[in-house]
Amino acid sequence: MSNRLFYAFDKDREFWLAALERAKFFKKNKISETEELQNKQVGLLFFEPSSRTRWSFEKACLNLKLDYMVSVVDQNTSHSKGERDEDTLELYLNLGFDLVVIRSKENTALQEVLKSYPHVKIINAGYGSQAHPSQAFLDYFTWTTEATSLSAKPKLLILGDIKHSRVARSHIRLSKILSYEVGLLEAPGFEVEEELKAAVVCFKDRKQALDWADLVMPLRVQKERHFEAKKWDFPPLRSKELKKDHFLLHPGPFMRNEDLEEDLIHDKKSLIFKQKENGVSCRMALISSMLKECEENKP
Ligand code: CP
Repeated sequence: MSNRLFYAFDKDREFWLAALERAKFFKKNKISETEELQNKQVGLLFFEPSSRTRWSFEKACLNLKLDYMVSVVDQNTSHSKGERDEDTLELYLNLGFDLVVIRSKENTALQEVLKSYPHVKIINAGYGSQAHPSQAFLDYFTWTTEATSLSAKPKLLILGDIKHSRVARSHIRLSKILSYEVGLLEAPGFEVEEELKAAVVCFKDRKQALDWADLVMPLRVQKERHFEAKKWDFPPLRSKELKKDHFLLHPGPFMRNEDLEEDLIHDKKSLIFKQKENGVSCRMALISSMLKECEENKP
């Protein structure tokens, strides 16, 4: 089994289903597996801003009673002297952690560095527009545990700025492993690449898309990744557009009245705050699964 959780497909169905059961256990018990994970050290390396992902990984480490270190690459690091991200990453991978959690912008030089350290366990906590597998997993965990009226193969509609969304790309990949359907309603000019579309249902008509869906996930307009000036012409999701049996998700951070109408945030169809809460138990499950694999893979 690969010691990387960079893309959803780095792990097989068996891994993800076992992680789901572990996350359910941690949600109920919120306790560590002290004996099994004792003396393990985790580094959390953040090149990019984060609130919910970083704090839930930190809290997951606390709950697991792990030794961990949070490292934010900012003006107080040698980044301010011009050190490149790939050199910072290489430095970090040499510090001797059992597992490193990384958030970064897209940078192929970082992926090249990771290839040179195949023995270091890695969890991707968000990589540019490309992948955010732990977010897709916690979304899946949330509807599986909270929306029990859903069919065995629920339909997830993702709408808005798909082009810049690592969450959308991770759902497209995870849906093939965990058997759910993904539909896209892309904002004009903010479409995902064609090769990923082969695996999803693409809609042009907003009403048709919403009629199709069980789960509705508007995305934030990810302006920090808009490198070319493009006109944004996509209305926020409105209360009146949701059906009685829809469930609402949002990976966060949500922008009121830009991604979705403010009233929807606390609507009874909304699982948004369940997603925030579940981030901790899901990340506990992923960290502990990876560290246990580490034990199993030892010569
Ligand atoms: N969903 C998500 O990645 O949120 P943060 O940027 O706050 O971590």
